[in-house]
Parts: sequence; C-alpha cells; structure tokens
Amino acid sequence: PGPDGVKRFGLRLQEGTAELLPGKPTSTWGINGDYLGPTLRAKRGDRVAMAVTNSLNEASTLHWHGMRLPAAMDGGPHQMIQSGQTWSPEWTVDQPAATTWYHPHPHGQTARHVYRGLAGMFLIDDDVALPRTYGTDDIPLIIQDKKFTPDGRLDEKSGGTFGILGDQILVNGTYDPFFQVTSQRVRFRVLNGSNAHVYNIGFADDRTFHVVAGDGGLLEKPVAAQRFRISPGERVEFVAGFQPGEQALLKSFEGDSDVESGDFDLIKFTAAGQLTPSPELPTKLASPTPASQPTKTRTFKLGGSNINGRDMDMTRVDEVVAAGAHEIWELNNTTFAHNFHIHEVAFRVLDIDGEAPPEYMRGPKDTVFVPGKTKVRLAVEFGRHTDPKTPYMYHCHILKHEDQGMMGQFVIV
Ligand code: C2O
Ligand code: CU
Ligand code: CU
Repeated sequence: PGPDGVKRFGLRLQEGTAELLPGKPTSTWGINGDYLGPTLRAKRGDRVAMAVTNSLNEASTLHWHGMRLPAAMDGGPHQMIQSGQTWSPEWTVDQPAATTWYHPHPHGQTARHVYRGLAGMFLIDDDVALPRTYGTDDIPLIIQDKKFTPDGRLDEKSGGTFGILGDQILVNGTYDPFFQVTSQRVRFRVLNGSNAHVYNIGFADDRTFHVVAGDGGLLEKPVAAQRFRISPGERVEFVAGFQPGEQALLKSFEGDSDVESGDFDLIKFTAAGQLTPSPELPTKLASPTPASQPTKTRTFKLGGSNINGRDMDMTRVDEVVAAGAHEIWELNNTTFAHNFHIHEVAFRVLDIDGEAPPEYMRGPKDTVFVPGKTKVRLAVEFGRHTDPKTPYMYHCHILKHEDQGMMGQFVIV
C-alpha cells in the first residue's frame, strides 16, 4: 500500500511474441508482458486501485472474476476500455481469502481475447497455516489448451459446438513444464483458463492429495481426493505431499463428455533429495456457513447457446435482485455440456440431479460445471453493492457459448 493506504496496480494489455511451442515464436497478447499477466495479491480490507491501459489495437475490458465489488468496477461488457485508454476502477477487498482471476469480457470477443493470452491470477491472502511462499510451496497452475497451425501460430478457428478444443496443454504459458519440489508439501492453485476444455485432474500414480479451496475460498476442512473436475473459470486449490528424490506427474484424465476428451500430461515434478519440513495440514480451514432462508427461486433453462430461450441483450436487464438476498438458482441444462458463472456472488452447489456434490465442491463457488441434460441447484448469496443502472453478468464460461449470447444480466437494488 502507498502512503494513502491504497494498493495500486498498473496493468497494460499489449501485443507480444511468445515461444509457446519451443523454437516457434508466435503472436500473442499479454498483460505487462507477452503472454498472461502478473499475479496480484491483496488481503481482506485492502483498498485497491487499478490503472488498466489498453495498448491493443481494439477495445477490450478487464473483468475481476470472483471479486465481489460494485458493478461499475466489475470490468464486464459495459466497462469497455477503448484502444489507448486507461480504466481506473477502485474498490475495497471485502470477501474471504480466495484465488480469483482476471480476464477480458468484451461482448462477443471474449474467447479470442482470452485465447491470445489475456488472463492472470489475483490472490486474496488467507491467515490459516497452509503453504504460502509464492513460487516455492504456493504455486499457481493456469491450465490452458491450445491448437497450433503447422508453422506454430495459434490456431484460432473455433470450429464445433464448444469452440476451440486444443491438443496441446500449456501450464502458466509453458509447454512441457516441470517443477522442482523443495518442501514436503506444496499448495497448488489450479485455474482452468481454457476456452472450453474440462479437466479431470489427478496424479499419474493416483496418490491422495487434499483439496483445501474452491473458487470462492477455503473449504471447512481439507478434503482427501485423488481426482477433481474443473471446468473453464473454476479454481481448485490442493495440497500434495512429496517424498525426497521422487518424481511425480500431474495429469488430466479423459472424462465422459465431449469437453473432457483426451488424456494430457500437465506438469512433471522432481523432488529434491532433502525437503524442507512443512507444517501439518490444519484440520479446520473455514467456519461453516450458517444456513440461510432463501427468499426466492429462479430457474434458468440452458439451451444450446442461450438461457431461458433468450440471447444476451446488453440493453435488457433479465433479473432484479435485492441487496444481500439469498436465493436458489436452478439450472436446467436441456442440451450438451455447459457451465455457469455468476458475477459478484458466492454460491454453494446444493445438488446435481438431486444428489449432493462431491465433497471438494462444497465450498464457496462462483462457477459450476453443468453436464449435458443435468439439473444443478445453487444457493446463491448476493452482495450489497447496489446499482440499478449497471448490470452484472451470469453466463456459460465456455467462451464460444458466452460470445454467442449465452449470457444474461442482473442488477442488485
Ligand atoms: Cu470469468 Cu463473466 O467471467
Ligand atoms: Cu466473472
Ligand atoms: Cu455453454
């Protein structure tokens, strides 16, 4: 923070060149660099002030996915930054510790802007005894799939139903990545920053690890798991243990829908011969959320590329929500795989086709996978930043679907 107590960040959307495939430099976009953007950090109570400069040749935006903030600061399609302009949102971080992220949100263009490399993490720090030394035992893993043309350029042809489904995986923009483990336990913050691909993540040797957080923050306690599923926009934090001198491989395993096709190696690990001792995992991470009485149920029918039969219209407000409301949102997917993200909120997944979600999905979330022909019910808690004129978005985070208009707008009043 500066002398005025405000934490200032300068971000520039710019063109770049990156060797995403070894020996084949390709045109990319990045934030303060050639590809992806810096990891930002703040803690609850911080006042943050952004200066987002658009040095691209076209308009874009920067949306704070997972941040709970006033709609005018949200960086959605209504907060366009023209080429050459600077946008300066400012807000007070007031939400539990979490791994949030940022990416552009220009209506109809989000898929292209994110695919070219505009995204980064924004961490809200916690105060529990989890590994927290960034780059040593607290590691971001931004997972993205890419398609390349034979000469190594990003292939942007978005073909089929889901748009781009690549056959190469990059982690933090790196091809064939590895990580040198130096401590007994490492915390990984996984962000699925892909346009469409859904991953089923686990170790090649099926070792057990502990999921500690979802999109919106810490789980009540660490949850033992061997696999978790993560769809575009979602975040999962987990802590894994390593033995001195061992090698390990994190993978994505083929799933049962079109967006989960293929097995991929994500990242290789080599553990040092001597590992720094790590504290035991705490048995308790967050307090249970008190049960609330929802005052309203809204239903959303997910069609092929629309919601409730309507395409996104930037001049139409679809839902009006009372400040601080608790509501049930029922998603009824009548077609193929989608997912669903709501800006500004924290929600709990109540059930998926009537059944409780896996334990690792029971923390606060803002994005959820909705498999084909499935019903998902969410208990949604809305914030108190009222603005009857500026809407927040809810949408499918498969970016081709979002761009096709599978998005709606709500205001908090
Ligand atoms: Cu990550 Cu409305 O977006
Ligand atoms: Cu968002
Ligand atoms: Cu979709």
